[in-house]
Amino acid sequence: MKIALLGGTGNLGVGLAVRFAMLGHDVIVGSRKLEKAEKKAEEYNEILSKMESKAKVIGLKNEDAARKSEISFFTIPWNHAFSTAEQLKDVLADKIVVSPLVPMEKKNGFFIYNPIPEGSAAEKLAGILKNSRVVSAFHNIPADKFADLDAKFDWDVAVCSDDEDAKKIVIDLINQIDGLRALDAGPLATSRMVESITPLLITISIKNKMKDLGVKFV
Ligand SMILES: NC(=O)c1ccc[n+]([C@@H]2O[C@H](COP(=O)([O-])OP(=O)(O)OC[C@H]3O[C@@H](n4cnc5c(N)ncnc54)[C@H](OP(=O)(O)O)[C@@H]3O)[C@@H](O)[C@H]2O)c1
Repeated sequence: MKIALLGGTGNLGVGLAVRFAMLGHDVIVGSRKLEKAEKKAEEYNEILSKMESKAKVIGLKNEDAARKSEISFFTIPWNHAFSTAEQLKDVLADKIVVSPLVPMEKKNGFFIYNPIPEGSAAEKLAGILKNSRVVSAFHNIPADKFADLDAKFDWDVAVCSDDEDAKKIVIDLINQIDGLRALDAGPLATSRMVESITPLLITISIKNKMKDLGVKFV
C-alpha cells in the first residue's frame, strides 16, 4: 500500500516507516519542511540498508505525502494535529486516515488523559476530516522500543472506526507487523478508552520502574 506518515520525522514515525517499508509498502515520510522530510528519509534508508533491506522510503512535505498515499498516519502531537487536519482535509478526502493521537498532559509529575469535548482525539479528527475514513490505532505502542528492529515484543493494538471496511484494511496492515496483534475495538466512540490507557501505561512505568509497557488482552 502507499502509506504516508504525516509528521513521520518523530518518535512514532521512524518505527512505522522502517517496519512498513520492510514489509514492501511504499512509505512516504511527511514533514512541514521538505528538507527535513528528505533528511529523515535518508536516515531511515540507512537503517533499512543496515538490516539488508533494499526498501527505500522517500520524504515529502505533508501535503504531497498525503496526496500520493492511500493511507495517512497522523504521527503529529495531538495538540497540533487538528490544525494540520484543517489544512489537509481536501487532499485527504475519501482516503483512510489513522489516528494514534493521545491527548494527555503532565500534572504533578504524572501524565493524565486530557478529555476532549468531542469524546476522543479520533472523533475530533473525524469531525474535521468529514470526507475521510478515520480509523484510530497504535495509541498504546511505546515508540522507542517499536523503533528498535532487534526488539522482541508481543502487543495488542486496539483498532476503532465507524467505517468497517477501512478498519479491516488497517487491521490487516497491523497484523503484518511481527509482534503486533490488531483487535477490532468497535466504533470510533471507543477510542477515548483506548487513548486514555497510554497515560496510565506511562504512570505505571514511572511508579514501578518498568520500561516500554504495551497492552496485551488475555
Ligand atoms: N511517542 C510515542 O511513544 C507514541 C505512542 C503512541 C501514540 N503516540 C501518538 O503519536 C503521535 C506522534 O507522537 P510522536 O512522539 O511521534 O511525536 P513527536 O516526535 O513529538 O512529533 C512528531 C512530528 O510532529 C511534527 N510536528 C511538531 N509540531 C508540529 C506542529 N505544530 N504542526 C505540525 N506538525 C508538527 C514534527 O514534524 P516536522 O517538524 O517534520 O513537521 C515532529 O517530528 C502523537 O499524537 C502521540 O500522541 C505516540
